Amino acid sequence: MLKIFILGKNIYEPLYFQRNFKERFKGFICCVKKQNRKGDKKMCGIVGFVGKKDASPILVEGLSKLEYRGYDSAGVAILKDNSIEVLKCKGRLKNLEEKLEESPIKGNIGIGHTRWATHGEPSDVNSHPHSNKNESISVVHNGIIENYLNIKEWLMSKGYEFLSETDTEVIPNLVDYYYNGDILDAVMKATAKMEGSYALGVICTKEPDRIIAVRKDSPLIIGVGKGEYFIASDIPAVLNHTREVYLLNDKEFVVLTDEGVEIFDENKEKIEKEIFHVTWNADAAEKGGYEDFMLKEIHEQPRAIRDTMASRIIKGKPIVLDKIKLTKEDLKNYNKIYIVACGTAYHAGVVGKTVIERLARIPVEVDIASEFRYRDPIMDKNTLVMIISQSGETADSLAVLRESKKKGCRVIAVTNVVGSSVSREADDVLYTLAGPEIAVASTKAYVTQLVAMYIIALYFAEVKETTSKEEIESIKEELLNLPEKAEKVLENKEILQKFAAQNYMHKDMFYLGRGLDYAVSMEGSLKLKEITYIHSEAYAGGELKHGPIALIEKGTVVISTITQMDLKDKMISNIREVVTRGAKTLAITFEGNEEVEKSVDSAIYIPKTLDILSPILSVIPLQLISYYVAKEKNCDVDKPRNLAKSVTVE
Ligand code: M6R
Repeated sequence: MLKIFILGKNIYEPLYFQRNFKERFKGFICCVKKQNRKGDKKMCGIVGFVGKKDASPILVEGLSKLEYRGYDSAGVAILKDNSIEVLKCKGRLKNLEEKLEESPIKGNIGIGHTRWATHGEPSDVNSHPHSNKNESISVVHNGIIENYLNIKEWLMSKGYEFLSETDTEVIPNLVDYYYNGDILDAVMKATAKMEGSYALGVICTKEPDRIIAVRKDSPLIIGVGKGEYFIASDIPAVLNHTREVYLLNDKEFVVLTDEGVEIFDENKEKIEKEIFHVTWNADAAEKGGYEDFMLKEIHEQPRAIRDTMASRIIKGKPIVLDKIKLTKEDLKNYNKIYIVACGTAYHAGVVGKTVIERLARIPVEVDIASEFRYRDPIMDKNTLVMIISQSGETADSLAVLRESKKKGCRVIAVTNVVGSSVSREADDVLYTLAGPEIAVASTKAYVTQLVAMYIIALYFAEVKETTSKEEIESIKEELLNLPEKAEKVLENKEILQKFAAQNYMHKDMFYLGRGLDYAVSMEGSLKLKEITYIHSEAYAGGELKHGPIALIEKGTVVISTITQMDLKDKMISNIREVVTRGAKTLAITFEGNEEVEKSVDSAIYIPKTLDILSPILSVIPLQLISYYVAKEKNCDVDKPRNLAKSVTVE
């Protein structure tokens, strides 16, 4: 079978090629792989407009197409009569729209932003655009400036003042510092000092005819209209105005005026770029060319894992957690940890229990929030409570947090949403940097919750000295290899697609595993239920004989995960038990375990990693099985029936 891989740093051209290729050469396999780009942050959306029309409605409409990138606050800055007017506020874009209706800002050049907080909680002051003190320079930014604290201190030593907690606020001030009559020059000098990722839109009252734009490791495109030009984090934001775009590369600087667009390299040499003509609709482009948000989010997992580890796990150095400050003394006093959560987050907690107990030697109980809150658990000041919640707004999880605090427990939150209720009310927070998760079925949030569990377990183990330095170091090293290994898992989809095509009509499917494989099976089973509406159960392999095996008959589908090598033989015996009763079996296991093929109908191989870390990789094929089965059944994978993304009521 011929298989073609198309590589690209920008996903649009390869996706376009793939679509044509598939249509013309049916039967061939054509895969698109995004070339690794360190720190490609998918948080926040930026837009900019220069032309003859009123900028503010164009900016707001562009931002509405980028809300999938973040929606905790929004703002615009518009140039008018040699001054900049900024309007920004916390909350969804509609708040900004209402404010703009009450007090419109007129002007033909502007920049806008929709935020997904990473540094500083959602608030009016932390919203973008950010400006220098005399408001002559305004900036919108998508990305993270990793050395912002150093820059901030340095600027403060030169008399600069800061209002917000954001990393972004250093940018207009740095540009101000370097401004000497040429805004492009100042932006070039400022970005040379910045480490991290950025897509920027910059306006300046002293050069009121232009926007300066540049990117590094965050996406940015330039829309080319007739006498009007745009910047945007993603193509959908400009599609109502133009289908002609420039796809920028890192460190390409752009000057946009109503007369045209000029692109320069880092040395201020002019660059000629080819225009890219967009042929698909806004809906497809918003999903990065993927058919659904869920598929897009599954593919974002390598990036999400990398971001969640970044600056926390560094080879040879202790784990760094800025918002968790438990000392050795504190940790000595805790004789029990409760991990409490709902749904997928609960499943991450089940993995957390094993890894914390194994590495930090503290007893851990995991519970479902809606059960825990009514069962009067035994807890006091020596109990540590951990709440895991993607949204940070789940009613039952929040209720447990509040009750735990009333009982004098310290609460750690693991959440994806900066400034969410859970993050604000907990004593300590560890943010999972998955970025906004739009599909109801959680995928990238789950793997980042797993990463958070490992980070916390390693942190506790280091502080309590319960695991040898060598073992801690080898786990850290392997964690850092996982983004690349996750990419490899994502390349291997054909068997899963085939499996889905052959089995989508079944009424039941069973998942089997032991130890951490059982925890992952629970998540695989939930994914199948919620997006395919097929009944499914996950069982611990050893439980089979205690009842569930009565359900197995000819043709029953059983999906096993086998990555815990000390339990491998026992799992294979369990598989044989179901095979004897006629089950159709698929196994997910490490490369090198090819002997499982003697016992199963088909096998999927994931790259070898430490057994303790396997859930981060083994869950990916399980997510994809559910996805492809749902597609075979024509289900709406992003919005499954009866479900909501965030369950804020009991
Ligand atoms: O936002 P939370 O993590 O607190 O949400 C918990 C569950 O509602 C959530 O994980 C749900 O189970 C997902 N739909 C699973 O894909």
